[in-house]
Amino acid sequence: MKDKIALVTGGNTGIGKAIVLEFVSRGAKVIFCGRREDEGKKTEEEVLKLGGTAKYFPCDVSNDSQVKEFVQKAESEFGGLDFAVNNAAVGGLSQDLHQYPEKVWDKVISVDLKGTWLCMKYEIELMLKKQGGSIVNISSIAGLVGADWKVAPYSAAKHGVVGLTKSAALEYSEKKIRVNAVCPGFIRTEMLEGLFHSSPDPKEAEKKITRLHPVNRLSEPEEVAKAAVWLCSSEASFITGVALPVDGGYTAK
Ligand SMILES: NC(=O)c1ccc[n+]([C@@H]2O[C@H](COP(=O)([O-])OP(=O)(O)OC[C@H]3O[C@@H](n4cnc5c(N)ncnc54)[C@H](OP(=O)(O)O)[C@@H]3O)[C@@H](O)[C@H]2O)c1
Repeated sequence: MKDKIALVTGGNTGIGKAIVLEFVSRGAKVIFCGRREDEGKKTEEEVLKLGGTAKYFPCDVSNDSQVKEFVQKAESEFGGLDFAVNNAAVGGLSQDLHQYPEKVWDKVISVDLKGTWLCMKYEIELMLKKQGGSIVNISSIAGLVGADWKVAPYSAAKHGVVGLTKSAALEYSEKKIRVNAVCPGFIRTEMLEGLFHSSPDPKEAEKKITRLHPVNRLSEPEEVAKAAVWLCSSEASFITGVALPVDGGYTAK
């Protein structure tokens, strides 16, 4: 990926940060966003120490004008866009559907689903200019099967991301833009810690969730990052429109 240009949303922490580092390790130049500037700057410094190139810009992916400005940085800073991973998302609450607050529903759909579409919209514009590119959207196992941990709006948004991915793959295949999704199982990040801590017994919740994966462990962010970056790469040149589970067998049952 030497001299290729990659974009990652939510690249300041968690899985997104691991994706930034994986792109950098393969020689790509990266722009990434997130709302927390302190976390963004920390990741930027980490990349610099590794001798790589990555630039952080603040951006809320649910805001059209901020997304437009952020995606255009790929062109103004580095000259275009080859790869994009749309990873930013929020989990929302773990609460019964009939009691779920409308405000939180709107937030989850707005960041996780509309945000993914807004990013794709401007990324595709740049990729059309370059006559090709590759996009990976981060969905979830909750985008492939129902979620039984009371996160129906999150699951609805993530199923939406899979639909968006497959339709875009068909729409842009002749323009040499591949679009795929990665659907992680439970991964050790802030988002997962938040879910554990929202339950009355976090240790028991972790054990229970671990057992849901046939491999009987949780995944590290790097395992998702490698799959996402590989899907972007030319090694996956004949793959488009897939929703790839990276889930230790969770959805094989
Ligand atoms: N962890 C899991 O078990 C798991 C499982 C399946 C799928 N996933 C998916 O994997 C992806 C990454 O999740 P994660 O576990 O790494 O979560 P995380 O640690 O909470 O990271 C989420 C990232 O998204 C950013 N973000 C959130 N809202 C944003 C917004 N409105 N605009 C821009 N950036 C925003 C956050 O930064 P700021 O807060 O600074 O904006 C952060 O960098 C998500 O799509 C998630 O749904 C995670």
